[in-house]
Amino acid sequence: MPSFDDSDFGAPIQPIISKDLSRVKTTESNGERRGSTLGISLPIPIEGRRDSVEVPATRSSIADASPYMHQLSMDDRPGAKDRRGSRNSFGASLPIPKSKRQSRLSSVAYSSGNVSGRPSGFPSQPTREILASQVQDMAGEKVTAAKDMAFVFDIDGVLVHGDRLIPEGQRALEILNGDNELGIKVPHIFLTNGSGKPEQARIDQLSKILHQPISMEQFIQSHTPMRALSEYYSTVLVVGGEGYRCREVAEEYGFKDIVVPNDIVAWDPTIAPYRVFTDAERSTSNPRDFSQINIEAIMVFSDSRDYATDMQIIMDLLRSENGRLHTVAKDPISQRIPIYFSQGDLLCPTEHPNPRMSQGAFRIGLEAMYKALTGVDLERVVYGKPELATYKYADSVLENWMDIIHNDERLPKNIYMVGDNPGSDIVGGNSYGWNTCLVRTGVFQGGENDGENPANFGVFANVLEAVKTAMKKELGQDFDFDWDDERVNPLRAGKDVSAVAVE
Ligand code: G3P
Ligand code: MG
Repeated sequence: MPSFDDSDFGAPIQPIISKDLSRVKTTESNGERRGSTLGISLPIPIEGRRDSVEVPATRSSIADASPYMHQLSMDDRPGAKDRRGSRNSFGASLPIPKSKRQSRLSSVAYSSGNVSGRPSGFPSQPTREILASQVQDMAGEKVTAAKDMAFVFDIDGVLVHGDRLIPEGQRALEILNGDNELGIKVPHIFLTNGSGKPEQARIDQLSKILHQPISMEQFIQSHTPMRALSEYYSTVLVVGGEGYRCREVAEEYGFKDIVVPNDIVAWDPTIAPYRVFTDAERSTSNPRDFSQINIEAIMVFSDSRDYATDMQIIMDLLRSENGRLHTVAKDPISQRIPIYFSQGDLLCPTEHPNPRMSQGAFRIGLEAMYKALTGVDLERVVYGKPELATYKYADSVLENWMDIIHNDERLPKNIYMVGDNPGSDIVGGNSYGWNTCLVRTGVFQGGENDGENPANFGVFANVLEAVKTAMKKELGQDFDFDWDDERVNPLRAGKDVSAVAVE
Protein backbone atom coordinates (compact mmCIF):
# COMPACT_ATOMS: atom_id res chain seq x y z
CA MET A 1 0.00 0.00 0.00
CA PRO A 2 1.26 3.47 -0.76
CA SER A 3 2.30 5.43 2.26
CA PHE A 4 0.80 8.65 0.95
CA ASP A 5 -2.67 9.62 -0.16
CA ASP A 6 -3.32 10.31 -3.81
CA SER A 7 -4.09 13.82 -2.71
CA ASP A 8 -0.46 14.16 -1.84
CA PHE A 9 0.34 14.24 -5.53
CA GLY A 10 -0.50 17.21 -7.58
CA ALA A 11 -0.70 19.54 -4.62
CA PRO A 12 1.08 22.79 -5.39
CA ILE A 13 4.11 23.70 -3.35
CA GLN A 14 3.13 26.17 -0.70
CA PRO A 15 5.39 28.42 1.26
CA ILE A 16 5.63 27.13 4.81
CA ILE A 17 4.39 29.88 7.03
CA SER A 18 2.99 27.93 9.93
CA LYS A 19 5.36 26.06 12.17
CA ASP A 20 2.90 23.17 12.19
CA LEU A 21 4.66 20.99 9.65
CA SER A 22 2.15 18.18 9.96
CA ARG A 23 -0.20 20.17 7.78
CA VAL A 24 2.28 20.65 4.97
CA LYS A 25 1.38 18.74 1.84
CA THR A 26 3.81 16.90 -0.36
CA THR A 27 4.40 18.03 -3.92
CA GLU A 28 3.72 16.34 -7.17
CA SER A 29 6.37 14.00 -8.52
CA ASN A 30 5.37 13.59 -12.14
CA GLY A 31 5.59 16.01 -14.99
CA GLU A 32 7.73 19.09 -15.03
CA ARG A 33 7.51 21.21 -11.94
CA ARG A 34 9.58 22.88 -9.30
CA GLY A 35 8.42 26.33 -8.39
CA SER A 36 10.70 27.05 -5.51
CA THR A 37 9.28 28.28 -2.24
CA LEU A 38 12.37 30.41 -2.03
CA GLY A 39 12.40 31.59 -5.61
CA ILE A 40 15.82 30.25 -6.42
CA SER A 41 15.38 26.90 -8.14
CA LEU A 42 14.72 26.54 -11.81
CA PRO A 43 12.47 23.77 -13.09
CA ILE A 44 14.01 20.41 -13.90
CA PRO A 45 12.27 17.80 -16.00
CA ILE A 46 10.90 14.74 -14.27
CA GLU A 47 10.36 11.77 -16.51
CA GLY A 48 7.34 9.64 -15.73
CA ARG A 49 5.82 8.69 -12.42
CA ARG A 50 8.26 7.63 -9.79
CA ASP A 51 8.15 5.55 -6.68
CA SER A 52 8.93 8.58 -4.59
CA VAL A 53 7.24 11.69 -3.36
CA GLU A 54 8.76 15.11 -2.91
CA VAL A 55 8.26 16.99 0.30
CA PRO A 56 8.81 20.75 0.50
CA ALA A 57 11.99 21.61 2.35
CA THR A 58 11.40 23.28 5.68
CA ARG A 59 14.86 24.72 5.99
CA SER A 60 16.23 27.16 3.49
CA SER A 61 18.07 25.58 0.60
CA ILE A 62 20.62 28.36 0.82
CA ALA A 63 23.85 27.98 2.76
CA ASP A 64 23.97 28.75 6.47
CA ALA A 65 27.56 29.91 6.27
CA SER A 66 27.15 33.68 6.02
CA PRO A 67 26.60 34.33 9.73
CA TYR A 68 29.82 32.47 10.47
CA MET A 69 31.90 34.32 7.89
CA HIS A 70 33.85 37.51 8.39
CA GLN A 71 35.01 39.60 5.45
CA LEU A 72 35.23 36.54 3.23
CA SER A 73 32.25 37.25 1.06
CA MET A 74 32.53 38.57 -2.45
CA ASP A 75 28.84 39.47 -2.38
CA ASP A 76 29.54 42.96 -3.61
CA ARG A 77 30.77 41.75 -6.97
CA PRO A 78 28.47 43.04 -9.72
CA GLY A 79 25.72 40.56 -10.51
CA ALA A 80 26.58 38.16 -7.72
CA LYS A 81 23.37 38.88 -5.84
CA ASP A 82 21.25 38.12 -8.89
CA ARG A 83 22.60 34.64 -9.45
CA ARG A 84 19.99 31.94 -9.53
CA GLY A 85 20.08 28.42 -8.16
CA SER A 86 21.45 25.46 -9.99
CA ARG A 87 19.22 24.17 -12.75
CA ASN A 88 19.78 20.69 -11.37
CA SER A 89 19.09 21.29 -7.75
CA PHE A 90 16.00 20.14 -5.92
CA GLY A 91 16.42 23.21 -3.76
CA ALA A 92 13.01 23.39 -2.25
CA SER A 93 11.96 19.75 -2.09
CA LEU A 94 13.25 16.48 -0.73
CA PRO A 95 12.21 13.23 -2.41
CA ILE A 96 11.38 10.36 -0.06
CA PRO A 97 10.25 6.82 -0.94
CA LYS A 98 6.48 6.69 -1.20
CA SER A 99 5.75 3.01 -1.42
CA LYS A 100 5.54 0.56 1.43
CA ARG A 101 8.96 -0.66 2.39
CA GLN A 102 9.68 -4.19 1.37
CA SER A 103 8.55 -6.45 4.13
CA ARG A 104 11.55 -8.36 5.28
CA LEU A 105 10.59 -10.04 8.49
CA SER A 106 13.63 -12.24 8.07
CA SER A 107 15.57 -9.05 8.67
CA VAL A 108 14.43 -8.80 12.29
CA ALA A 109 17.54 -8.82 14.43
CA TYR A 110 17.08 -10.87 17.59
CA SER A 111 18.78 -10.11 20.81
CA SER A 112 21.06 -12.82 22.09
CA GLY A 113 19.25 -15.27 24.34
CA ASN A 114 15.96 -15.16 22.48
CA VAL A 115 16.01 -18.75 21.38
CA SER A 116 12.43 -18.70 20.20
CA GLY A 117 13.46 -16.54 17.26
CA ARG A 118 10.18 -14.68 17.54
CA PRO A 119 10.06 -10.94 17.05
CA SER A 120 8.15 -10.35 20.28
CA GLY A 121 11.20 -10.44 22.48
CA PHE A 122 9.42 -12.76 24.91
CA PRO A 123 11.32 -15.70 26.28
CA SER A 124 10.30 -18.99 24.68
CA GLN A 125 6.95 -19.87 26.28
CA PRO A 126 4.48 -21.61 23.99
CA THR A 127 1.41 -20.52 25.97
CA ARG A 128 2.43 -16.92 26.34
CA GLU A 129 0.84 -15.56 23.19
CA ILE A 130 -2.37 -17.47 23.81
CA LEU A 131 -2.56 -16.11 27.33
CA ALA A 132 -1.77 -12.60 26.16
CA SER A 133 -4.49 -12.73 23.56
CA GLN A 134 -6.98 -13.92 26.21
CA VAL A 135 -5.99 -11.08 28.48
CA GLN A 136 -6.31 -8.61 25.62
CA ASP A 137 -9.74 -9.94 24.67
CA MET A 138 -10.95 -8.94 28.13
CA ALA A 139 -9.31 -5.53 28.24
CA GLY A 140 -10.85 -3.85 25.21
CA GLU A 141 -10.39 -0.20 26.07
CA LYS A 142 -6.81 -0.52 27.22
CA VAL A 143 -5.93 -2.54 24.13
CA THR A 144 -7.45 0.10 21.88
CA ALA A 145 -5.47 2.79 23.70
CA ALA A 146 -2.26 0.74 23.48
CA LYS A 147 -2.70 0.44 19.72
CA ASP A 148 -3.46 4.12 19.43
CA MET A 149 -0.19 5.28 20.89
CA ALA A 150 3.31 4.96 19.49
CA PHE A 151 6.85 5.92 20.33
CA VAL A 152 9.50 7.31 18.03
CA PHE A 153 12.94 6.89 19.58
CA ASP A 154 16.05 8.82 18.91
CA ILE A 155 18.97 6.44 19.44
CA ASP A 156 22.22 8.17 20.44
CA GLY A 157 21.82 9.73 23.87
CA VAL A 158 18.47 8.02 24.49
CA LEU A 159 18.98 4.26 24.13
CA VAL A 160 22.75 4.04 23.72
CA HIS A 161 25.93 6.06 23.85
CA GLY A 162 27.85 4.76 20.87
CA ASP A 163 28.43 1.11 21.76
CA ARG A 164 27.35 1.52 25.39
CA LEU A 165 23.86 0.64 26.57
CA ILE A 166 21.77 3.13 28.49
CA PRO A 167 20.20 0.50 30.80
CA GLU A 168 16.80 2.21 31.00
CA GLY A 169 16.64 1.92 27.20
CA GLN A 170 16.62 -1.86 27.35
CA ARG A 171 13.88 -1.92 29.98
CA ALA A 172 11.75 0.58 28.03
CA LEU A 173 11.92 -1.62 24.93
CA GLU A 174 11.12 -4.77 26.94
CA ILE A 175 7.92 -3.10 28.11
CA LEU A 176 6.96 -2.04 24.59
CA ASN A 177 7.78 -5.47 23.21
CA GLY A 178 5.17 -7.04 25.47
CA ASP A 179 6.44 -7.15 29.04
CA ASN A 180 3.38 -5.34 30.33
CA GLU A 181 0.08 -6.30 31.93
CA LEU A 182 -1.57 -6.83 28.54
CA GLY A 183 1.31 -8.72 26.97
CA ILE A 184 0.79 -6.33 24.07
CA LYS A 185 3.29 -4.82 21.66
CA VAL A 186 3.13 -1.06 21.76
CA PRO A 187 4.14 0.36 18.36
CA HIS A 188 7.54 2.03 18.24
CA ILE A 189 10.07 2.96 15.61
CA PHE A 190 13.63 4.30 15.67
CA LEU A 191 14.54 7.61 14.06
CA THR A 192 18.21 8.49 14.22
CA ASN A 193 20.45 11.04 12.56
CA GLY A 194 23.13 8.36 12.74
CA SER A 195 24.63 7.18 9.47
CA GLY A 196 27.54 5.50 7.79
CA LYS A 197 26.64 1.85 7.46
CA PRO A 198 23.82 -0.20 5.96
CA GLU A 199 20.63 -0.32 8.00
CA GLN A 200 20.96 -4.04 8.71
CA ALA A 201 24.47 -3.66 10.11
CA ARG A 202 23.34 -0.87 12.41
CA ILE A 203 20.30 -2.87 13.52
CA ASP A 204 22.41 -5.93 14.32
CA GLN A 205 24.72 -3.80 16.42
CA LEU A 206 21.88 -2.06 18.26
CA SER A 207 19.94 -5.21 18.88
CA LYS A 208 23.00 -6.80 20.44
CA ILE A 209 23.56 -3.82 22.74
CA LEU A 210 19.90 -3.49 23.72
CA HIS A 211 19.15 -7.24 23.92
CA GLN A 212 15.94 -6.53 22.05
CA PRO A 213 14.73 -7.43 18.56
CA ILE A 214 14.73 -4.61 16.03
CA SER A 215 13.34 -4.88 12.52
CA MET A 216 14.37 -3.10 9.34
CA GLU A 217 10.72 -2.10 9.12
CA GLN A 218 10.93 0.05 12.23
CA PHE A 219 14.27 1.68 11.57
CA ILE A 220 15.24 4.98 9.94
CA GLN A 221 18.71 6.45 9.89
CA SER A 222 19.57 9.82 8.40
CA HIS A 223 20.21 8.59 4.87
CA THR A 224 17.40 6.01 4.73
CA PRO A 225 14.91 8.32 2.92
CA MET A 226 17.65 9.26 0.43
CA ARG A 227 16.99 5.91 -1.21
CA ALA A 228 14.43 7.89 -3.27
CA LEU A 229 17.25 9.84 -4.91
CA SER A 230 18.45 6.73 -6.74
CA GLU A 231 15.51 7.27 -9.09
CA TYR A 232 16.83 10.66 -10.08
CA TYR A 233 20.58 10.23 -10.43
CA SER A 234 22.72 7.55 -11.95
CA THR A 235 26.37 8.47 -11.35
CA VAL A 236 26.88 9.92 -7.87
CA LEU A 237 29.75 10.81 -5.56
CA VAL A 238 29.13 9.28 -2.13
CA VAL A 239 31.06 10.88 0.73
CA GLY A 240 31.67 9.94 4.36
CA GLY A 241 31.73 6.94 6.63
CA GLU A 242 34.33 4.31 7.40
CA GLY A 243 36.06 2.49 4.57
CA TYR A 244 33.59 1.66 1.84
CA ARG A 245 30.50 1.22 4.03
CA CYS A 246 28.69 4.14 2.41
CA ARG A 247 29.33 2.67 -1.03
CA GLU A 248 27.49 -0.42 0.27
CA VAL A 249 24.66 1.80 1.52
CA ALA A 250 24.33 3.49 -1.88
CA GLU A 251 24.35 0.12 -3.65
CA GLU A 252 21.54 -1.11 -1.42
CA TYR A 253 19.58 2.04 -2.19
CA GLY A 254 19.78 1.26 -5.89
CA PHE A 255 22.27 3.86 -7.11
CA LYS A 256 23.67 2.45 -10.32
CA ASP A 257 27.08 4.07 -10.62
CA ILE A 258 28.74 4.97 -7.32
CA VAL A 259 31.97 6.91 -7.04
CA VAL A 260 33.76 7.47 -3.73
CA PRO A 261 36.61 9.94 -3.12
CA ASN A 262 39.21 7.13 -3.05
CA ASP A 263 38.29 6.21 -6.65
CA ILE A 264 39.10 9.78 -7.67
CA VAL A 265 42.37 9.99 -5.69
CA ALA A 266 43.46 6.65 -7.19
CA TRP A 267 42.83 8.09 -10.66
CA ASP A 268 44.60 11.41 -9.99
CA PRO A 269 46.55 11.69 -6.72
CA THR A 270 47.37 15.35 -7.46
CA ILE A 271 43.75 16.25 -6.84
CA ALA A 272 44.39 15.91 -3.08
CA PRO A 273 47.96 17.13 -2.61
CA TYR A 274 48.18 16.42 1.12
CA ARG A 275 46.66 12.99 1.03
CA VAL A 276 48.85 10.01 1.87
CA PHE A 277 47.25 7.27 -0.18
CA THR A 278 48.13 3.78 0.97
CA ASP A 279 48.62 0.74 -1.24
CA ALA A 280 45.71 -0.91 0.49
CA GLU A 281 43.48 2.03 -0.38
CA ARG A 282 44.69 1.99 -3.96
CA SER A 283 44.00 -1.71 -4.33
CA THR A 284 40.44 -1.39 -3.05
CA SER A 285 39.52 1.67 -5.08
CA ASN A 286 37.95 1.81 -8.49
CA PRO A 287 39.79 4.43 -10.60
CA ARG A 288 38.41 5.55 -13.95
CA ASP A 289 39.03 8.51 -16.21
CA PHE A 290 36.83 10.95 -14.37
CA SER A 291 37.60 13.69 -16.90
CA GLN A 292 35.27 11.76 -19.20
CA ILE A 293 32.50 11.05 -16.71
CA ASN A 294 29.74 13.36 -15.52
CA ILE A 295 29.05 12.95 -11.83
CA GLU A 296 25.41 13.95 -11.53
CA ALA A 297 25.08 14.64 -7.81
CA ILE A 298 26.99 14.61 -4.53
CA MET A 299 25.59 12.64 -1.58
CA VAL A 300 27.22 13.28 1.79
CA PHE A 301 25.94 10.24 3.62
CA SER A 302 28.05 10.43 6.76
CA ASP A 303 30.88 12.21 8.54
CA SER A 304 33.95 12.78 6.42
CA ARG A 305 37.01 10.85 7.57
CA ASP A 306 39.30 13.15 5.61
CA TYR A 307 38.03 16.72 5.44
CA ALA A 308 40.88 17.97 3.23
CA THR A 309 40.43 15.40 0.48
CA ASP A 310 36.64 15.33 0.58
CA MET A 311 36.27 19.11 0.63
CA GLN A 312 38.70 19.53 -2.25
CA ILE A 313 36.92 16.97 -4.41
CA ILE A 314 33.46 18.31 -3.56
CA MET A 315 34.55 21.86 -4.28
CA ASP A 316 36.10 20.80 -7.60
CA LEU A 317 32.85 19.10 -8.58
CA LEU A 318 30.63 22.00 -7.49
CA ARG A 319 32.69 24.36 -9.63
CA SER A 320 33.07 22.03 -12.60
CA GLU A 321 31.12 21.86 -15.86
CA ASN A 322 28.26 19.53 -14.94
CA GLY A 323 30.28 17.35 -12.61
CA ARG A 324 33.23 16.63 -14.88
CA LEU A 325 36.53 16.75 -13.02
CA HIS A 326 39.48 18.70 -14.46
CA THR A 327 37.01 21.28 -15.82
CA VAL A 328 36.03 24.63 -14.36
CA ALA A 329 32.64 25.93 -15.42
CA LYS A 330 32.44 29.37 -16.98
CA ASP A 331 29.24 29.91 -15.02
CA PRO A 332 29.65 27.80 -11.91
CA ILE A 333 26.04 28.31 -10.89
CA SER A 334 24.08 27.16 -13.90
CA GLN A 335 26.36 24.17 -14.40
CA ARG A 336 26.53 23.21 -10.76
CA ILE A 337 25.52 19.73 -9.76
CA PRO A 338 23.31 19.30 -6.67
CA ILE A 339 24.66 18.37 -3.27
CA TYR A 340 22.74 16.53 -0.55
CA PHE A 341 23.59 16.02 3.12
CA SER A 342 22.01 13.24 5.15
CA GLN A 343 21.65 15.37 8.29
CA GLY A 344 22.56 18.74 9.70
CA ASP A 345 23.75 18.18 13.27
CA LEU A 346 26.56 20.58 14.05
CA LEU A 347 27.83 18.60 17.01
CA CYS A 348 27.56 15.04 18.20
CA PRO A 349 28.18 13.70 21.72
CA THR A 350 30.88 11.00 21.82
CA GLU A 351 33.20 9.43 24.39
CA HIS A 352 35.17 12.70 24.33
CA PRO A 353 34.37 15.15 27.16
CA ASN A 354 33.07 17.78 24.71
CA PRO A 355 30.83 17.09 21.69
CA ARG A 356 32.66 16.54 18.41
CA MET A 357 31.97 18.26 15.08
CA SER A 358 29.47 16.43 12.92
CA GLN A 359 28.14 16.67 9.36
CA GLY A 360 26.70 20.14 9.94
CA ALA A 361 30.14 21.54 10.72
CA PHE A 362 31.57 19.93 7.58
CA ARG A 363 28.73 21.43 5.54
CA ILE A 364 29.18 24.94 6.92
CA GLY A 365 32.89 24.71 6.12
CA LEU A 366 32.06 23.78 2.54
CA GLU A 367 29.46 26.51 2.24
CA ALA A 368 31.94 29.12 3.46
CA MET A 369 34.60 27.94 1.01
CA TYR A 370 32.10 27.91 -1.82
CA LYS A 371 30.97 31.43 -1.07
CA ALA A 372 34.54 32.66 -0.76
CA LEU A 373 35.47 31.11 -4.11
CA THR A 374 32.36 31.94 -6.15
CA GLY A 375 30.74 34.88 -4.41
CA VAL A 376 27.38 33.16 -4.11
CA ASP A 377 25.70 31.05 -1.48
CA LEU A 378 25.68 27.34 -2.05
CA GLU A 379 22.29 25.80 -2.66
CA ARG A 380 21.96 22.42 -1.01
CA VAL A 381 19.51 19.95 0.48
CA VAL A 382 19.75 18.62 4.03
CA TYR A 383 17.83 15.52 5.14
CA GLY A 384 17.53 14.14 8.69
CA LYS A 385 15.80 15.46 11.81
CA PRO A 386 14.29 18.08 12.12
CA GLU A 387 13.48 18.17 8.40
CA LEU A 388 9.81 17.68 7.50
CA ALA A 389 10.57 15.04 4.87
CA THR A 390 12.18 12.83 7.49
CA TYR A 391 9.13 13.08 9.77
CA LYS A 392 6.76 12.37 6.89
CA TYR A 393 8.81 9.32 6.06
CA ALA A 394 8.64 8.28 9.72
CA ASP A 395 4.83 8.42 9.49
CA SER A 396 4.83 6.01 6.59
CA VAL A 397 7.21 3.66 8.41
CA LEU A 398 4.99 3.77 11.50
CA GLU A 399 1.86 2.97 9.48
CA ASN A 400 3.64 0.05 7.91
CA TRP A 401 4.86 -1.16 11.30
CA MET A 402 1.28 -1.02 12.64
CA ASP A 403 0.31 -3.28 9.77
CA ILE A 404 3.08 -5.73 10.64
CA ILE A 405 2.46 -5.96 14.38
CA HIS A 406 -1.30 -5.34 14.59
CA ASN A 407 -2.50 -6.00 11.06
CA ASP A 408 -3.88 -2.47 11.08
CA GLU A 409 -2.19 -0.08 8.67
CA ARG A 410 -2.84 3.34 10.14
CA LEU A 411 -1.18 6.02 12.16
CA PRO A 412 -1.77 5.85 15.93
CA LYS A 413 -3.31 9.05 17.31
CA ASN A 414 -0.87 9.72 20.13
CA ILE A 415 2.74 9.73 19.01
CA TYR A 416 5.57 10.36 21.47
CA MET A 417 9.01 11.38 20.27
CA VAL A 418 11.71 10.65 22.83
CA GLY A 419 14.93 12.52 22.16
CA ASP A 420 17.95 14.10 23.79
CA ASN A 421 18.57 16.91 21.32
CA PRO A 422 16.21 19.92 21.52
CA GLY A 423 17.62 21.27 18.25
CA SER A 424 16.65 18.23 16.19
CA ASP A 425 14.45 15.64 17.97
CA ILE A 426 12.31 18.10 19.90
CA VAL A 427 11.93 20.97 17.45
CA GLY A 428 11.05 18.49 14.71
CA GLY A 429 8.56 16.58 16.87
CA ASN A 430 6.93 19.79 18.15
CA SER A 431 6.55 21.13 14.64
CA TYR A 432 5.08 17.88 13.42
CA GLY A 433 2.40 17.79 16.10
CA TRP A 434 3.85 14.94 18.12
CA ASN A 435 4.18 14.79 21.90
CA THR A 436 7.81 15.40 22.72
CA CYS A 437 9.85 14.03 25.63
CA LEU A 438 13.31 15.37 26.29
CA VAL A 439 15.69 13.13 28.24
CA ARG A 440 18.74 14.06 30.26
CA THR A 441 20.97 11.20 29.11
CA GLY A 442 22.46 12.91 26.05
CA VAL A 443 22.94 16.33 24.50
CA PHE A 444 20.50 18.17 26.79
CA GLN A 445 21.98 18.91 30.19
CA GLY A 446 19.98 22.03 30.99
CA GLY A 447 17.48 23.07 33.62
CA GLU A 448 13.73 22.54 33.75
CA ASN A 449 13.24 22.45 29.99
CA ASP A 450 15.04 23.72 26.92
CA GLY A 451 14.59 27.47 26.57
CA GLU A 452 14.46 27.57 22.78
CA ASN A 453 12.77 24.28 21.93
CA PRO A 454 10.96 23.05 25.03
CA ALA A 455 9.63 19.50 25.01
CA ASN A 456 5.84 19.73 25.14
CA PHE A 457 5.28 16.51 27.14
CA GLY A 458 8.11 17.08 29.55
CA VAL A 459 11.72 16.52 30.53
CA PHE A 460 12.67 13.13 31.99
CA ALA A 461 15.68 11.67 33.70
CA ASN A 462 15.82 8.90 31.12
CA VAL A 463 13.84 7.11 28.42
CA LEU A 464 12.20 4.67 30.83
CA GLU A 465 10.66 7.51 32.82
CA ALA A 466 9.38 9.07 29.61
CA VAL A 467 7.86 5.80 28.35
CA LYS A 468 6.19 4.98 31.68
CA THR A 469 4.73 8.49 32.03
CA ALA A 470 3.33 8.45 28.49
CA MET A 471 1.88 4.95 28.92
CA LYS A 472 0.24 5.87 32.22
CA LYS A 473 -1.34 8.89 30.56
CA GLU A 474 -2.78 6.79 27.74
CA LEU A 475 -3.49 3.53 29.58
CA GLY A 476 -4.23 4.60 33.13
CA GLN A 477 -2.17 5.50 36.19
CA ASP A 478 -2.45 1.94 37.50
CA PHE A 479 -1.04 0.34 34.36
CA ASP A 480 1.30 -2.48 35.28
CA PHE A 481 4.67 -2.61 33.52
CA ASP A 482 5.20 -6.34 33.99
CA TRP A 483 3.69 -9.35 32.35
CA ASP A 484 2.74 -11.55 35.28
CA ASP A 485 2.64 -15.15 34.19
CA GLU A 486 1.46 -16.35 37.59
CA ARG A 487 -1.50 -14.02 37.51
CA VAL A 488 -2.83 -15.03 34.12
CA ASN A 489 -1.66 -18.62 33.69
CA PRO A 490 -4.26 -20.95 35.27
CA LEU A 491 -1.87 -23.90 35.30
CA ARG A 492 0.83 -22.03 37.19
CA ALA A 493 -1.62 -20.35 39.47
CA GLY A 494 -3.12 -23.77 40.31
CA LYS A 495 -6.53 -22.65 39.12
CA ASP A 496 -9.23 -24.37 37.16
CA VAL A 497 -7.96 -24.46 33.56
CA SER A 498 -11.40 -23.58 32.25
CA ALA A 499 -11.26 -20.16 33.88
CA VAL A 500 -8.46 -17.81 32.98
CA ALA A 501 -8.27 -15.23 35.69
CA VAL A 502 -7.81 -11.66 34.68
CA GLU A 503 -7.80 -9.04 37.37
O1 G3P B 1 24.62 13.54 15.19
C1 G3P B 1 24.91 12.29 14.75
C2 G3P B 1 24.14 11.14 15.35
O2 G3P B 1 25.00 10.34 16.10
C3 G3P B 1 22.92 11.48 16.14
O3 G3P B 1 22.17 10.32 16.35
O4 G3P B 1 20.36 8.93 17.26
O5 G3P B 1 20.92 11.09 18.34
O6 G3P B 1 19.82 11.09 16.13
P1 G3P B 1 20.74 10.38 17.07
MG1 MG C 1 20.30 11.77 20.09
